[in-house]
Amino acid sequence: MSQRDQVYREPKNQIVDFAFDDSVADVFPDMIRRSVPGYETVIPVSGLLAARHLKRNPELAPRAYDLGCSLGATTMALIRALDNEACEVFAVDSSEAMIQRAAERITDPRVHFLCRDVRGLDFKPAGAVLLNYVLQFLAPDDRLALMRQICRALAPGGLLIVSEKVRFDDPEDDAFYDAVHLDYKRANGYSDLEISQKRSALENVMIIDTEAVHRDRFREAGFTRIRKWYQCLNWASFLVSP
Ligand SMILES: C[S@@+](CC[C@H](N)C(=O)[O-])C[C@H]1O[C@@H](n2cnc3c(N)ncnc32)[C@H](O)[C@@H]1O
Repeated sequence: MSQRDQVYREPKNQIVDFAFDDSVADVFPDMIRRSVPGYETVIPVSGLLAARHLKRNPELAPRAYDLGCSLGATTMALIRALDNEACEVFAVDSSEAMIQRAAERITDPRVHFLCRDVRGLDFKPAGAVLLNYVLQFLAPDDRLALMRQICRALAPGGLLIVSEKVRFDDPEDDAFYDAVHLDYKRANGYSDLEISQKRSALENVMIIDTEAVHRDRFREAGFTRIRKWYQCLNWASFLVSP
């Protein structure tokens, strides 16, 4: 069982930028479940979607990447959905705290853990890439290059799943969904102090795009088929193919 997230419970004299360090890794399953509407649907279903794609398209490279894997929830969902299908899964994260814990949790020999920045990865051809709630933590100028690399690794018939928080072009919509997202966190037991301290910590670290920006970038990177398969408030997930 994951520990309860109390990282921002006490008043802090100084708010430093959010990092995926030991204190966050220890409570991560609880933190993400209480903070991200739809997480408990998106993770298992993205495993099912990717597994189906890999099983149904045996001409694709039997390889998948879980980029920004944290504790490996998406990898676990994929492995479960793959049953005994042969497939190499690379679970990648730049946080040593996360990768160490993920490697302790998942012992399936098909999974290889890499403590690496996804921006420097040398991708092998793959049938599926999963990028759940990670792109938003990359510098905006680095996002297109990563998409291009993924598109090349997936071509011609692979599948990319991208889940992200999204902004809305309409300020009224944006304010509305943002307010309901705060209600969601309150309803999950976070205090206003916890919410505002975490917000400040994330301000420079998590930069949110609109759906239109995502779609334009997918196209510019070379993807041709772009579908949004899930949205809960201001959290969406896309299925994208070269
Ligand atoms: C919100 S978590 C992702 C959650 C995970 N995909 C899941 O569904 O449970 C973001 C993760 O991305 C990782 N990350 C952020 N920037 C990264 C980068 N440039 N390269 C590799 N990992 C990165 C962080 O260390 C963190 O573990």
